[in-house]
Amino acid sequence: MSMSEYLLEMRGIVKEFDGVRALNGIDIKVKAGECVGLCGENGAGKSTLMKVLSGVYPHGTYSGEILWDGAPLQATSIRETEAAGIVIIHQELMLVPELSVTENIFLGNEITLPGGRLDYDAMNRRAVELLAELNIRDVNVVLPVKQYGGGHQQLIEIAKALNKNARLLILDEPSSSLTTSEIRILLGIIHQLKAKGVTCIYISHKLDEIEAICDTIVTIRDGQHIATTPMREMSVEKIIAQMVGREMNQLYPPRTHTPGEVVFEARNVTCWDADNPQRKRVDDVSFTLRRGEILGIAGLVGAGRTELVSAIFGSYQGPYQAQVLYEGQRWDTGSPLKSIRTGLAMVPEDRKHHGIVPDLSVGQNMTMAVLRQFSHDARIDQDEELKVIRAEIGRLKLKTASPFLPITGLSGGNQQKAVLSKMLLTKPKILILDEPTRGVDVGAKFEIYQLMLNLAAEGISIIMVSSELQEVLGVSDRVLVIGEGQLRGDFVNDNLTQEKLLAAALAQPLH
Ligand SMILES: Nc1ncnc2c1ncn2[C@@H]1O[C@H](COP(=O)(O)OP(=O)(O)OP(=O)(O)O)[C@@H](O)[C@H]1O
Ligand SMILES: [Mg+2]
Repeated sequence: MSMSEYLLEMRGIVKEFDGVRALNGIDIKVKAGECVGLCGENGAGKSTLMKVLSGVYPHGTYSGEILWDGAPLQATSIRETEAAGIVIIHQELMLVPELSVTENIFLGNEITLPGGRLDYDAMNRRAVELLAELNIRDVNVVLPVKQYGGGHQQLIEIAKALNKNARLLILDEPSSSLTTSEIRILLGIIHQLKAKGVTCIYISHKLDEIEAICDTIVTIRDGQHIATTPMREMSVEKIIAQMVGREMNQLYPPRTHTPGEVVFEARNVTCWDADNPQRKRVDDVSFTLRRGEILGIAGLVGAGRTELVSAIFGSYQGPYQAQVLYEGQRWDTGSPLKSIRTGLAMVPEDRKHHGIVPDLSVGQNMTMAVLRQFSHDARIDQDEELKVIRAEIGRLKLKTASPFLPITGLSGGNQQKAVLSKMLLTKPKILILDEPTRGVDVGAKFEIYQLMLNLAAEGISIIMVSSELQEVLGVSDRVLVIGEGQLRGDFVNDNLTQEKLLAAALAQPLH
């Protein structure tokens, strides 16, 4: 038994990147068996702190000390912390796309037969069991992980962590790509783990989840500890106030713009499944869009919303058809490049695979699509480029030490802002945003909504896909509901409720 009241103590942790302090002397304490909600704005240092704890940043690359079960922990690798019982599920998925589901789950942790050969039968069986605990039964564990979508991949990652028998399980935004029912399963699992005595640190910008499962709230701001408070003394509003350092009395800016005439039309959009051409993912959806209108697209995950907008943008990965018209003229949106040239831009949902180029800097990522604007006589005017980049960083309140930093050094929410900026620089007439606030903190969400409303007031039309019904209701002028690939509703956002949207999503087709 440990002598300490705390399973974990982190004391005076300082972590710098190229002279920039991400963690500025943080102290946190965690009692055995509790579930701690670690809260803070984008860039506050949550992921960095957990990487220090889990050995991603080895001992010696930070200062301060870590006590684990009362004894100093000076791990130099993830293997060491895992051996001590600390398991982390990272914010950005770490699966190897080409390996099978089973191979991913057992990577570094393989079951072997006497003699050292891998025991695939045992591993496959166990993988199926682990997934069944998460209520997933439609995954073929011998197929490559890349066959499965973001939500399933996230659950596979969780299954992998469950297999490691953690004493402390760290979940860094585990729910950002899960559906409501998947989140319910995940929260149920955490309850079970708690009952078994497993300690958890849970990071999420969805504060209702934090409220539902956490016993203690630890807030951090600018790399420093702000408060540790029992959840029973807290509320979502109080958490927000601690995170941002002031009261936030409204989550959505007021809508003051009025949409103009119909300018844009998508006709007969149909998408077939890339692997199964018999199956339609989107079935003959048509809709119109007004000038300066914000059109929310709601529906359950898997309903075909992302497929619909990627077909319009020309990035759908299977057979599809779509007609796109602007002011009555056909627009050629056969590829993302063509779309961007005509004035249609899209910020995709999967930031890691389609949004950012990891090897480039923050600034390079932002201007990537518009380099031509800065080229004179076949030379890039770098001063001008930098001026634009700095202005954008200011406008979006993007938190980065420098525009020359690799984009992967930004916190999740700030990467999202950079991707948004990249598309805004193309000066689109129509802007598609697929889950624009995923992983974004409450304050930055407000800023993104404000930006959307400003763009709308300037006459830019916006199509926003979102799984958060509250958000859809908070910012949209009109809402389309998609269910099983079909259009199930088209509502003006006036006395509209989450119940009405859900009812439409689950109801029978319109025609
Ligand atoms: N590898 C890195 N190189 C340079 N700077 C980094 C690196 N990793 C993190 N930072 C900086 O450290 C600060 C904290 O980032 P961190 O990712 O810990 O934030 P976070 O609280 O997890 O935010 P989010 O909610 O957006 O995920 C940020 O300012 C970030 O830019
Ligand atoms: Mg983070």
